[in-house]
Amino acid sequence: MIKVRIPATSANIGSGFDSLGLALDLYNYIYMEEYDGIWIESKDGTDIPTDQTNLVYETAKSLYELCGRPFPGLHIQQISHIPLARGLGSSSACIIGGLVGANRLMGCPMEEDEIVNLAARMEGHPDNSTPALLGGLVTAVIDSGRVYYVKQEIHQELRFAALIPDFELKTSVARAALPEQISRADGIFNLSRAALMSVSLYSGNFHNLRVAADDKIHQPYRLKLIKNGEKVLQMCYNNGAYAAYISGAGSTLMAIVDDGTIDFEQKTREALNEMGLAAWRLEMLSIDNRGTVVMEGE
Ligand code: HSE
Repeated sequence: MIKVRIPATSANIGSGFDSLGLALDLYNYIYMEEYDGIWIESKDGTDIPTDQTNLVYETAKSLYELCGRPFPGLHIQQISHIPLARGLGSSSACIIGGLVGANRLMGCPMEEDEIVNLAARMEGHPDNSTPALLGGLVTAVIDSGRVYYVKQEIHQELRFAALIPDFELKTSVARAALPEQISRADGIFNLSRAALMSVSLYSGNFHNLRVAADDKIHQPYRLKLIKNGEKVLQMCYNNGAYAAYISGAGSTLMAIVDDGTIDFEQKTREALNEMGLAAWRLEMLSIDNRGTVVMEGE
């Protein structure tokens, strides 16, 4: 059986809607082997579909078909640490896990680049799936079904504090809340900040991050769907975060914190309790620069 480890991702990073994303050291694990039929198990009690609607299975099967290989059926076991529908790339993790697992079982007919393209086409945007596969900070554009991207490894002393609410927010709902059109001023506002975010994170100019994370395209609309979201973002800034933003489509809020800000975690836990938000989870994460890894025989 092969074992695939896929990192969580945090897309958009505020201003880089559908184009910026980074991988974090919170992982899903997928075990996969060819099997005469369909046998899907959750190894950690997470409620996952165990029939052909399972996203890992569906994606893996589609790769066999795309490669013109007879599909033998699959035995899949999943360990899912990435919470569902919280803006941390859980569906990308299933898609990448399915593609990478199936590719390995078939003897790797697909190049990495092709998997980048396939995954982004399946998701509709490249900002979760590309860092999930490659790790690091990714700046990506999808054009006519092809992804143009740069992956940068981040070796800076940063922590990513994921404040994970006790409620889901489906990406489809969070996208439906966005306006069809934006003004030129808002377009300029975002594109300048997205460019600044990408280079500032990479080069360590962290004093830029607060301005760079600001956004007029999606966060103002989505914050209305995240109860207490505005207050929690402000609390993160009060506790010393460089930047705080909605991770992906939400509901998670992400704070970028200097590794040296030792009391951020403690203060933030206390503040969540004081705000009556003890049910929110706080995960102190770091960048994953490796991306998806296949481990055989474990
Ligand atoms: N860029 C996407 C969005 C990420 O914000 O809708 C969520 O999949």
